[in-house]
Amino acid sequence: MKRPISIAVTGAAGQINYSLLFRLAAGELLGADQPIILHLLEIPPAMKALEGVVMELNDCAYPLLQKIVMTDDPKVAFDGVEYAFLVGAKPRSHGMLRSDLLQQNAEIFAIQGKALNDVASRDVKVLVTGNPSNTNALIAINNAPDLSSDCFTAMTMLDHTRAVSQLAQKCGVISKQINNIIIWGNHSCMQYPDLHHARVNGFEALSLVDDAWFVDEFIPTVQHRGTEIIKVRGQSSAASAANAVIAHMRAWAHGTADGEWLSMAVLSDGSYGIEEGLVYSFPVAVTNGKASIVQGLEINRFSLERLRRNETELKEERQAIRHLL
Ligand code: NAD
Ligand code: LMR
Repeated sequence: MKRPISIAVTGAAGQINYSLLFRLAAGELLGADQPIILHLLEIPPAMKALEGVVMELNDCAYPLLQKIVMTDDPKVAFDGVEYAFLVGAKPRSHGMLRSDLLQQNAEIFAIQGKALNDVASRDVKVLVTGNPSNTNALIAINNAPDLSSDCFTAMTMLDHTRAVSQLAQKCGVISKQINNIIIWGNHSCMQYPDLHHARVNGFEALSLVDDAWFVDEFIPTVQHRGTEIIKVRGQSSAASAANAVIAHMRAWAHGTADGEWLSMAVLSDGSYGIEEGLVYSFPVAVTNGKASIVQGLEINRFSLERLRRNETELKEERQAIRHLL
């Protein structure tokens, strides 16, 4: 029997986690031979609801789930964990922008960054999902000076899978025939879903669709999909978000295939001219657990302008929470 691995999940009684926790416990992240211990963090008013979720997890009798720790203390939640899913934060409702959540959620990520710094494994892989996720990840990084910034990522994988699905439907193929889409920048309506490097069955995507569809339909559809889900469903995306969380962390844990990448927001090192010190979504490849920004992709003037707009928006977000950095 392998040594169990501890995984922290915040906001454990929330809607994303009602899907995510059951998939983690079933072994979808680390495989069918890897026992896990779940550390579930909630705020005091949600502890009762969390108890109910834990009852349901127990009722599944998952063979890999060795233990569940329920707590409202981040230091208990993050103690020794190798993976941390920072989901717990307010979601936006109809008519709000994700950046409207900045002041309400920012403090959470300062507190949790400090706790991760103090007690998590030194190799912890942290995925920030709570919105606005790029800047929340930046706050966590800045509050965890003893952890490498490589330990922190934010999620644009849901935008990535949305883009894959839109292109697959347009081309009449299935999603596994699509490669190398990129989401650049911020998980906001400014994000840039880029098809210049994407392939459909090995063919250049932009040779199969016309420019007007790419610019006037594809880009805005992906940019505004989260808003559209809230409008139609009445609540923000949950099961699809959980799916993206698993896909992001699976790729980070197990690696990407040769020549392939996923979209992941990481601390910019200046690649593609993006200012250092912003958490920005890039094409990222993973080898031996290390996520690296894919280098050397050609960026035309159309794309460059969109990359820059995202950089500007993220600088504005950073300015708004500078007291927490
Ligand atoms: P939800 O309201 O259903 O659940 C959030 C949970 O977090 C609640 O149970 C709440 O009690 C808990 N929580 C609040 N503050 C906490 C804290 N300090 N510590 C621990 N738990 C805390 O929301 P949801 O639909 O699950 O969404 C969670 C977050 O994920 C939102 O901010 C949402 O906007 C974001 N989101 C991001 C993406 C993405 O692609 N990056 C996708 C979907 C949702
Ligand atoms: C999404 O993209 O679905 C999430 O970020 C939720 C939201 O507020 O749009």
